[in-house]
Amino acid sequence: MPVPTAKMMSLNGRVVPYDQCLLHAFSGAVKYGAGVFEGLRGYWNEERQELYVFRLAEHLERLRYGMRVMRLEPVYERAFLEDALLAMIRANGLRENIHLRMIAFLDGDDELAATGPVGLVCGAVPRPRSKAVEEGVHVAVSTFARLADNAMPPRVKATGNYLNNRAAELEARRNGYQGVLMLTERGKVSEGSGACFFMVRHGALHTPDVASDILESITRDTVIALAREQGLAVHERTIDRHEVYAATEAFWCGSGYEIQPILSLDRLALGTGAPGPVTRALQRAYFDVVEGRTEAHPEWRTPVWGNAGRAAA
Ligand SMILES: Cc1ncc(COP(=O)(O)O)c(C=O)c1O
Repeated sequence: MPVPTAKMMSLNGRVVPYDQCLLHAFSGAVKYGAGVFEGLRGYWNEERQELYVFRLAEHLERLRYGMRVMRLEPVYERAFLEDALLAMIRANGLRENIHLRMIAFLDGDDELAATGPVGLVCGAVPRPRSKAVEEGVHVAVSTFARLADNAMPPRVKATGNYLNNRAAELEARRNGYQGVLMLTERGKVSEGSGACFFMVRHGALHTPDVASDILESITRDTVIALAREQGLAVHERTIDRHEVYAATEAFWCGSGYEIQPILSLDRLALGTGAPGPVTRALQRAYFDVVEGRTEAHPEWRTPVWGNAGRAAA
C-alpha cells in the first residue's frame, strides 16, 4: 500500500502540491543515487495543542555535515532548511504524529563528478506508533556486511548507502524475520537497517561505538543521555556477535523506529524473550520527552504552531 504522503511538499524552499514535486529523470540523484537525507519525527501533544519536531537542530546539522562530506555545493544554511521544513508542515495543517523526510539531492543532467546544482525536498507522512514498540521484533544477523567507512561513509545518511541496508532488510524478511542486525567487515556488531543497537548485560547498557560503521544516531544519543539520567552505566564499545546471544535484554532505536525491543536474534531468545524492564523504562522516558509530557530537555523540542514557546513549559 502506498504511503499517504501529506498533500503539500517543499521543493527548493517553495511549498508545492505533491504531484508537482518533480525532478528530471536524468538528474544526478537518479543516475548515481547522489543525495543525503534526514528522517525526523513530529509529535502531537493534545493537551498543549502543539506539534513538537524532535531534535530539529541536530538533524539539520547532520544534513549539512552530510552535504559537505558528499561534496554537494553549496551547503544550505540551517535557517533555509528549517524554514522549508516548517513551512511544509504548516501548509498541511498537521496536528498529529508525523514522520518527516528531507533530501538534499544532486540535480541537473551532469556527470559523476558534478557537485551541483543541489535540490532540496521535504515531505511529511502521518505515522502513529508502530506495534513493534510494544510487542518487539525477531531479528537475524545479516549475511551482508555493513558498508565500511573507507568505502562509503556510514555516519552520513547518504541515499546511495541504503542499497546496503535494503539488501540486508530484504534478506531478513525473505527469511521470515522482522528486522536485521548487520556486522562490520571485521565481524563486529554494527547496527540495524535503520536503527542503532543496544543490549543489557550485567545490569549495564552496551552499544557499538561510533567507529563500528554506524550512523551517529540522534536517538542513540538521546537514549544514552536518558539512561545515564536513570543512573544506568552506558558503555560505547566494540561488541561481538556471541555476546549478544548472552544479553538479558536488547533493543534498537532510531527516529523512525523509536525504541523497539529485540526479542530474539537468529531465533535464540534474548533474556526471557519478552521486552525487559530496562527497555520499558527507557521507552517511558523517551516518549515522555519526545511528546513533551515532561519539563526535561525543552531544547530538544521545536514547536511548530508556537502555542508553547520553544520550551515545553
Ligand atoms: C542506518 C541507520 N542507523 C541508525 C538510524 C537512527 O538514526 P537517528 O536516531 O538519527 O534517526 C538510522 C535512521 O533513522 C539509520 O538509517
